[in-house]
Amino acid sequence: MEALIEIHLVVAFLLALCALVFSWNTMGRRVVNAVAVLQFVVGLAIAGMLGKAAPSQVWVHLIVALLILGAYGMAMAAGKREGGSSRALIFSIVGFILVFANIWLGWAMAHPGAGV
Ligand code: HEM
Repeated sequence: MEALIEIHLVVAFLLALCALVFSWNTMGRRVVNAVAVLQFVVGLAIAGMLGKAAPSQVWVHLIVALLILGAYGMAMAAGKREGGSSRALIFSIVGFILVFANIWLGWAMAHPGAGV
């Protein structure tokens, strides 16, 4: 369990790094989306193991995670379309901002009272 939370924290920053470095083309967005799916699955496993002991804000955290997957999904779809590259970039930037918002939410949830 401890190890899973540790993995979730490491993959969160890996996702932020990938979102920054790889968001600029279609292949890169695939990489970001794959890391986001991995993070989603690890998060679900943690929430499942915590069960009722999971923090109450976990629902907001889950919805933001779904929005991240949606944003990168739309970015990938837009990038494949003729003339869709600027829309793809906008969706990628939205995804990037949401990744940071969710890191902040997850951190505040895991460390209540830590001043975040
Ligand atoms: C891409 C999306 C996600 C990001 C960037 C993210 C990021 C984080 C971060 C940074 C933490 C703090 C970890 C720590 O300080 O050790 C955290 C905690 C947590 N995350 Fe996520 N997370 C994501 C998706 C999810 C999903 C889909 C779930 C499932 C509902 C989830 C469930 C949790 C839970 C339950 C905790 C708190 C663990 C505890 O109380 O110690 N996360 N998340």
